[in-house]
Amino acid sequence: MKIVLIGYMGVGKSTIGKLLADELNIEFKDLDEIISHKENSNISEIFNKKGELYFRKKESQYLKAEIENQKENILSLGGGTPCYGNNLDILLNQKNIKTIYLRAQINTLCERLFNEKSSRPLISHLENKEELTEFIGKHLFERNQFYLKADNTVVVDGKSTEEIVNEIIEILNLKQR
Ligand code: S3P
Repeated sequence: MKIVLIGYMGVGKSTIGKLLADELNIEFKDLDEIISHKENSNISEIFNKKGELYFRKKESQYLKAEIENQKENILSLGGGTPCYGNNLDILLNQKNIKTIYLRAQINTLCERLFNEKSSRPLISHLENKEELTEFIGKHLFERNQFYLKADNTVVVDGKSTEEIVNEIIEILNLKQR
């Protein structure tokens, strides 16, 4: 089985994905890292030099390649991945894929993202927490319709990474090997 983690920027998809993979002793993959590696460029550079449309095309292309390989692993997606093209339908239509939406409140996301915004092209121009909060609020409202189609939702606010990992293991009925 592939476990695919989706959710807004800053929710902890990569952190939780790595810990979950360690716990289950399976491979961890991060779609943004795959894109950076294949394109030989970091995500901000891709956005700046080639534009968001190019990024979305590559994101979809590498997602499909990852799904086709049928390998058992944990895959964390970019915050926008399920919201473009037919990416989400493809994920939901595979029997061997379980999608998990890591969900956080706007304030939690704002606190986490404020100091990391320079590496995220969609929010790097926002100047203060008020602007960031407003942006996240609107963006999350648009994106929740996609995220909420995931097989399961795990709320992360106020929980330790360990608690979140254990919750996912319980939900998916997985046992440590
Ligand atoms: C994006 C989220 C980013 C990255 C790109 C676009 C988005 O991934 O894919 O900057 O559209 O939300 P993270 O969610 O890992 O920050």
